[in-house]
Amino acid sequence: MAHSNIYVTRMIPQQNIDALRAVHHVEVNPHDRALTRDELLEAVRGRDAVITLLTDTVDAAVLDAAGPQCRIFANYAVGFNNFDVAAATARKIVMTNTPGVLDDATAAHAWALLFAVTRRTSEAERYVRAGRWEGWAPMAFIGQDIDHKTVGVAGLGRIGAKFARKAKAFDMKVIYTDAHPNRTLEDELGATFVDKETLLRESDFLSLHLPLTPETRHYLGAREFALMKKTAVLINAARGPLIDERALVTALRDKMIWGAGLDVFENEPDLEDGLLELENVVIVPHIASATIETRIAMGNIAVGNVLGVLNGERPRNCINP
Ligand code: DGY
Repeated sequence: MAHSNIYVTRMIPQQNIDALRAVHHVEVNPHDRALTRDELLEAVRGRDAVITLLTDTVDAAVLDAAGPQCRIFANYAVGFNNFDVAAATARKIVMTNTPGVLDDATAAHAWALLFAVTRRTSEAERYVRAGRWEGWAPMAFIGQDIDHKTVGVAGLGRIGAKFARKAKAFDMKVIYTDAHPNRTLEDELGATFVDKETLLRESDFLSLHLPLTPETRHYLGAREFALMKKTAVLINAARGPLIDERALVTALRDKMIWGAGLDVFENEPDLEDGLLELENVVIVPHIASATIETRIAMGNIAVGNVLGVLNGERPRNCINP
């Protein structure tokens, strides 16, 4: 196989880079930060394949900068809302993602956020670290039980189903909404399909597992928060723009809902004004898939897709129609 010229827009596990280097010429962004737009446009120039992150917007300008020899842009993520797939298809460039391997890590992380919000873990830790703890107190940091409650799942895809499956351990009622009911999964998970309004009204805890599309942008806003229980907890480990973040700050501040656990944000890494001042929100920096096993597995898939396409094969995770 002739050596191809590959660019990786940010360091991923070394063994994934080594697997590419065994066959091809590979350059990696040398900085410990995402590339700027100008740097990205320059870095992709003349490459046969590019591995990108969800923070890299890959549109027609980037594809054109790469040039007509470019065969594939492989996203190191399952989400691909940073890709202009139509523009790539028009240029006969393959686009791929990394589905499947991060479902467990992401679903577990959504649960970790739910535990943290309902038991006020971050708030309590801040209190201890600030030297304010004076001993056990019967009414300090009172949270909520999760056992036997109703958990709502918006989007029963791979990750949503993994999330729902773990609810069995807490003997919870699971309701979900999606484009269509999935009767097979319903039977397996004991989940009930409901419409969006019922999901909002009946969920004690609501976890988002939807892809970001024009239709799902601001899936939750002021109108939706007004329908939710005042004791409800919202979890988002999917994509930030699913939520109107300004409306969420108001809902949390005005106690329209009880709390939120957020892994993702509308304009990462910037946060909506007021969010950081709120105690009833747990905020972490988009780390749902950040386990070493998962990140290596994501790399294996991205590398496999690149090697396959450079070898003239159709990749397993092609997202072009
Ligand atoms: C993804 O893969 O889309 C996550 O957001 C990061 O792993």
